[in-house]
Amino acid sequence: MRVTILTLFPQIFRGFLEESLIGKAVEQGLLKVDVVDIRGYASGKHRVTDDTPFGGGVGMVLKPEPVVEAVEAHRLEKLKGRAVLLTPRGELFSQPMARELSAFQQLLLICGRYEGVDERVTKLVVDQEISIGDYVLMGGEVAAMVVVEAVARYLPGVVGDPDSVAEDSFSSGLLKYPQYTRPREYRGLEVPEALLEGDHRKIERWRRREALRLTLERRPDLIRPDRLSSEDLEFLKGHL
Ligand code: ADE
Repeated sequence: MRVTILTLFPQIFRGFLEESLIGKAVEQGLLKVDVVDIRGYASGKHRVTDDTPFGGGVGMVLKPEPVVEAVEAHRLEKLKGRAVLLTPRGELFSQPMARELSAFQQLLLICGRYEGVDERVTKLVVDQEISIGDYVLMGGEVAAMVVVEAVARYLPGVVGDPDSVAEDSFSSGLLKYPQYTRPREYRGLEVPEALLEGDHRKIERWRRREALRLTLERRPDLIRPDRLSSEDLEFLKGHL
């Protein structure tokens, strides 16, 4: 997959693209990332990228020309691509969306800034607007990183064990069960007995129940009774 990030602040992405699993994926060529400076597509001596809003109001608006021209210059027609604008008014980002986006050959992530982006950018070059949550960031850069991480985990070879993606919180529709590693006892807190005996059915059952319990407690909105077994439902009934 090729990810093309369009931003006014390319430096923000340096550490992000060099470290940890994203860094490794880039190094191994599993993920190609270009960070494009929108200012490079602005015209005039001062390469101005923003202007005051028509109709008045506070703040500045990102001008349409540099953004549209940056997208057009970097959109690879031969690749199946999707252009995404990161904005708090977008569709709420989710695990299924991350999986869907991972099927594209090119992802163009446009990071908004200031008080907004000229609406004609959306009309001319944006396929989808995404928000990462109901709060306002100073720009789309951190949101773009969130999307890159969530999508990259679905690309073959990026996360060592594909099962670990399948077992994530949300992939199963439930929050993830609690995890423990050595030591068996730490400051008086013991690892649950069910995990220590090597009995895989017992371990699976314990994990399923903990996932159900946590989800019921913290995110009851995620629970879809039609996707649960009769044993799951029985367990949940005991906790209502
Ligand atoms: N830009 C500013 N806030 C944002 C949000 N919540 N999601 C995506 N992009 C944003």
